[in-house]
Order: sequence, then C-alpha cells, then structure tokens
Amino acid sequence: MRNRCFSRALAGLAALLVMGALSAPPAPFEPVSLAEPLPLPVVLAVPIDVDRFASLDVADRSQREEVEPEEVEPEGPDCAVLDCIALTFDDGPVPGTDRLLDILAKREVPATFFLIGSQIQGHQKIVERMVADGHAVGNHSWSHLSLTGLKKKNLKSQISRTTDALTNAGVTDPVLFRPPYGDLSDSVLKALGSQGYASVMWSVDPKDWQLDDAAAVTRAVTRAVEPGAIILLHDIHDSTIDAVPGIISKLHKQGYTFVTVPELFDEEVQPGEVYYRRPL
Ligand code: NI
Repeated sequence: MRNRCFSRALAGLAALLVMGALSAPPAPFEPVSLAEPLPLPVVLAVPIDVDRFASLDVADRSQREEVEPEEVEPEGPDCAVLDCIALTFDDGPVPGTDRLLDILAKREVPATFFLIGSQIQGHQKIVERMVADGHAVGNHSWSHLSLTGLKKKNLKSQISRTTDALTNAGVTDPVLFRPPYGDLSDSVLKALGSQGYASVMWSVDPKDWQLDDAAAVTRAVTRAVEPGAIILLHDIHDSTIDAVPGIISKLHKQGYTFVTVPELFDEEVQPGEVYYRRPL
C-alpha cells in the first residue's frame, strides 16, 4: 500500500516536471541575427564563462607554439656580400689533426673535414672536437677506394659504414661527401643521393701532397684563390698543417672570410648535387 502511494507520488512529480519543461519560458538568450544591430542590454547580459575561455586560450596558444616554432635566423656570415672561401681537409682523422684544430681554434677559423670511416675508430675524440669547435664534418668513404669501380653493394657500404662511424662520433645527419680521387659517375651520384649526400668537389687544388713544403703550399693557395673557392688540402701532411697559419694570415689580409662548406652555400646543400665552388 505504501509502495503504491509512493509510485503514484513519483508519477505525479514526473508529470509536473514534464509539464514544467514543456511550458518553460524561452531561453533568456535567443540567437540574435547578426544582420541586425544587437540591443545593448542583451550584449551586456551574455554570460561569459571566463575560466573556460581562458583555458581555451592557453590550449590554443600552446598548440600554436607546437605548429609554428619561432624561426631563428641562422647567424652565419653573409656570403652574398662577403668574399667567402672554404678550407677543406681530407683523409683524416690522424693524430696530427689535433695540431691543426689548435691552429684553427686560435685563429677562430672554421673549416670542413672529410673523414675516412675506417680511421674514425681510435680518433673519436678528435671528431668530437671538430664538431664542438664548429667545423663541418663530411664523409670521405670507408677505405678511400675509387667508388666508380665498385659493385653496388660495396659502393653502398663504403658510404653507409662511414655514416655510422660519423654519427657515433657525434656528427649529426652528415650531408657532405667528398669522393676519393674526385671520381664520380652516375651510379655513384645516385648512391650518394639516396643516402642523403651531396658531393663536394673543389676549385683550388694546390697539390699539397706533392709539394710537401709549407711555403710552397701557401703560395699555391694564395695564387689560385678567388671568392667562393673551395680549397682542397690534406691534414695527413705535416707540411700542410705548417702552411695553414700563413694561408689564414695572407687570405685574411686579402679580405677573405673563412666559412664551412654549408655556410658557403647558405646552408642549402642538397643531396644528389655536386658542388665545386660558390657560384658568382
Ligand atoms: Ni682523399
């Protein structure tokens, strides 16, 4: 009996609620056509959930920061204006490379090194120092073979093994490759491009390995240099390292600015391309 009364009471209450909802007055803030001017009191009366809007704004801002990070202009020399040149050193790393790094650090001159992969093991500290000192570091094959005569598999591993060695020594995403002996072919270029490498050749070759005399190397470089040049040197020769202070002094006096190879091309070196010098 008590249950039935209770159910009836509930049913009555439900009916009252339904009727109340049906006959409820219209929502106080009906959509207003934007074509008509908004009556001022309505605008002022619109309730604003401040917290909700603030949180939306924060979420929106953080999302924007993720999508569009602030772009920082690279702080490099402007080679469109300056007479830039790039010193490049091949066939290291060797113990003598440290002496060259001391000279470059003292004179605050950046350079580009093309390393033989098989020599990186045991000289990791030198490679780490190159990176820390702001030099560019590239790939010069695993064992300095002429790549044009190799079968596809060997060709690929000459490149990739050196990439691994460079990466393990702290060189991130190496993109510069100097082919041993300057030997290139379509298949070598294709293999290099597929592994993310651009080929960096040179425009000044003082034949330092042949001269074996510091003063002669300095003369050969300063005689042939011109704006935009890439200069080929080898840090495996003491005479070449001995020539570097003189090369730096003379070329500074002539108004040249030393840059890395990527800087010489405004940081836009493209895989699969071949570079000889900065175009005039
Ligand atoms: Ni070489």
